[in-house]
Amino acid sequence: MKILVIDGPNMNMLGIREVNIYGSENYETLLKLLDEVALEENIDIIHFQSNYEGAIVDEIQKAYQKVDGIVINPAAYTHTSVAILDALKSVSIPTVEVHISKVSEREDFRQINFIKPYAIKSFEGFGIDGYKRAIIYLKNYLKGKK
Ligand code: DQA
Repeated sequence: MKILVIDGPNMNMLGIREVNIYGSENYETLLKLLDEVALEENIDIIHFQSNYEGAIVDEIQKAYQKVDGIVINPAAYTHTSVAILDALKSVSIPTVEVHISKVSEREDFRQINFIKPYAIKSFEGFGIDGYKRAIIYLKNYLKGKK
């Protein structure tokens, strides 16, 4: 089973950016966590981070018929990107959304979410542990489909 984990803009600044909101665990810790989950759950995890919307669209397109599931934290693009939503719909790969913070309790402009209605499930407010929860949820979902 192959799962693509995508992080949007500024997620590479974890541990540095707004630690009161996103926590002090840094980006390297997130990458380590993904490696651990891959081992524990016996799945292939590919990780991709970009600060560019088009690069994220390209990566989603590349996943077509190559990846079983997508976990995505589109970061700020969550609230703006029809292009990322359309890319996800194009490849039609089961997708779980993750946010480190509890976006549903934050500013009004973060209440617009293009990805949530499409995702099979959203995890928000669990810090980097949300990625683990998302991957395990997706794994079970994909196993159920077989
Ligand atoms: C975020 C929430 C977004 O609103 C924000 O733009 C981010 C990170 C989160 O993980 O909590 O960059 O996706």
